[in-house]
Amino acid sequence: MPIDVRAVREQTRGVLNVAHLNNAGSSLVPGPVAETVVAHLRREEEIGGYEAAEEAADRLHKVYSSVARLIGARPDEIALAESGSRAWAVAMHSVSFVPGSRLLIGRSEYAGNAIALRQLARRNDLQIVVLNDDPYGQVDVEHLQRELERGNVAMVALTHVPMADGLVNPAAEVGRRCRAAGVMFVLDACQSVGQMPLNVEFLGCDVLAGTGRKFLRGPRGTAFLYVRASVLGRFEPLALDGLSAYSSGAEGLEIRGDARRFESWEASIAGRLGLGRAVEYALDLGLEAVQERVGSLAEHLRTELAAVPSVTVHDHGISRCGIVTFSVKGHEAADIRALLTDHRINVSVAPRSSGEVQSILTGSAHAAETVVRASVHYYNTEDEILRLAGLLPR
Ligand SMILES: Cc1ncc(COP(=O)(O)O)c(C=O)c1O
Repeated sequence: MPIDVRAVREQTRGVLNVAHLNNAGSSLVPGPVAETVVAHLRREEEIGGYEAAEEAADRLHKVYSSVARLIGARPDEIALAESGSRAWAVAMHSVSFVPGSRLLIGRSEYAGNAIALRQLARRNDLQIVVLNDDPYGQVDVEHLQRELERGNVAMVALTHVPMADGLVNPAAEVGRRCRAAGVMFVLDACQSVGQMPLNVEFLGCDVLAGTGRKFLRGPRGTAFLYVRASVLGRFEPLALDGLSAYSSGAEGLEIRGDARRFESWEASIAGRLGLGRAVEYALDLGLEAVQERVGSLAEHLRTELAAVPSVTVHDHGISRCGIVTFSVKGHEAADIRALLTDHRINVSVAPRSSGEVQSILTGSAHAAETVVRASVHYYNTEDEILRLAGLLPR
């Protein structure tokens, strides 16, 4: 069923205040999500934090099944976390790598992950190989294939949708090649989750990290990690606590048998319940319908922008999503953002992805060229898109 735009806007208070085209930053939270978070906080106020958590235990438990359903996984393969990058890094730092082995990553890897990778490489004596882009700006799967055939590959890490590019990397094809080579595949799905259907079997990934506040429309400070049950035993979290492990006498410690080994005991219960509600909200709408609407709004925006003579649209890729990046000749991205903010249109400024990862990994200088990032969601309207395009200097 197509998205009922009027209904979703009625459940999104923020649309009365702003044209929010910063969903890749942090989306407008829908009413039912906000109410879930606030209601739990009220219970903490009324009866105490531990008692409120006990009362919500069943609903809290269901958050894992909701997230699992969202990505075609099992509930015991899901851990909740406070941020997507933390979820990703916690998994990466839990693997014991063979020194000297190689880690293959895409050029559009998230910059925060690239920092973590540099630390990981230094600690474990790893070599990081940055894969080429293909002519469409996506990860070059033929280059990936050649590197897999050269051997000594510990892992392949890919960002599904880059932070500042409308492209969707061919993750399922990467997953297929990794499976054939018997190499672990780690997918950063922080920008794709919530705006398109995801299925870990189809994607062929062993690890997937997602964040709550972006296209999923969850509260800030929420995220999740998926680790395939068949590889979980290869991950020993660096910092264990009373939730992730048990003391087993003289033998030492026994680490939990499910993905919650990556969690810490304390967490925002209200936030987690809010995340679960956001996932249910997305599932109720249907991720196919979400993708359809987001894709068509984004294409509309690209078309309107391309018609403005001073504007260059930068998005690459064959398959594109809700992120639209552009620049306006003679104007800094920050100035365009300020102009739009004055008209109550939210966008963000982002570094252009190309070259950034290489410079982080090598410490080399990189001209920090920035672009305007306008990221649409299903509750945005054609009118908001026309307003944005109409305000740009010609
Ligand atoms: C592609 C990508 N991965 C990971 C993240 C990090 O997510 P979080 O801020 O929840 O750590 C971001 C955030 O912008 C992102 O764009």
